[in-house]
Amino acid sequence: METSINSLKKALKNADRVAVLTGAGVSAESGVPTFRGADGLWKNYRATDLATPEAFARNPELVWEFYNWRRELIGQKTCNPAHRALAELERLIPDFTLITQNVDGLHLLAGSRHLLEIHGNIWRARCTRCGRETLDRAPDMGNRPTCAACCGLLRPGVVWFGESLDPEILRQALEAAERCRVMLVVGTSSVVQPAASLAYTAKSGGALLAEINLARTPNSDLMDIVLMGKAGEILPELVDGWT
Ligand code: OAD
Repeated sequence: METSINSLKKALKNADRVAVLTGAGVSAESGVPTFRGADGLWKNYRATDLATPEAFARNPELVWEFYNWRRELIGQKTCNPAHRALAELERLIPDFTLITQNVDGLHLLAGSRHLLEIHGNIWRARCTRCGRETLDRAPDMGNRPTCAACCGLLRPGVVWFGESLDPEILRQALEAAERCRVMLVVGTSSVVQPAASLAYTAKSGGALLAEINLARTPNSDLMDIVLMGKAGEILPELVDGWT
């Protein structure tokens, strides 16, 4: 472990272009439930069954109730050492892109700026009629919030299963993966596309790949370095003592 951390640290120090892909595991130590862990259940519903356009079409009140619960919970959480270490890494690398699947906004709170929130942000809402987007940090939006402009039904401003990513954000994520010299893949189960395939893109471009996770994932075999452990412990070690 020690040797792997040191090799990764060396590779990062020599890399002028770095991309990082994060998932729910990075926010787990802040107390935000992951999607597929034992904590991914809400009222006996699997989070992954509610984050779909079909669930919203069937029962928007239930889906909003779930998102209000998540907003309330996330609103009480703050960034952890993993978020802070990634914000610090951004200051140390000339060309740095943080691609996150997390919608909790905690990377922004920690100070990350070259950030692509590819699955959106839980504090955004979008009108299903006119498409207008709003940013609202109210923990409880009610079970049937409506658009101030056209009274259409609002939906959470996140990307659900079966939906496409914003094409411009995806283009930027692919470009960052293509040009990076090192890609860190942190706290993601690597089962959701297209996020999971960004590691393949980076590998094809010749990047060194490193995974930080509590467990192995379907992408572990692709990795040059696998560090098993908590993101909030390993990432701070990587940025410690650079100067
Ligand atoms: P998952 O819940 O699928 O995976 C979380 C990963 O984090 C697992 O591989 C855990 O082993 C790992 N993990 C947990 N705690 C950790 C810690 N302290 N340090 C390091 N690793 C840890 O979450 P995602 O991969 O983010 O999409 O899920 C991807 C997407 O599926 C989400 O963005 C969401 C979800 O449904 C949408 O909502 C569209």
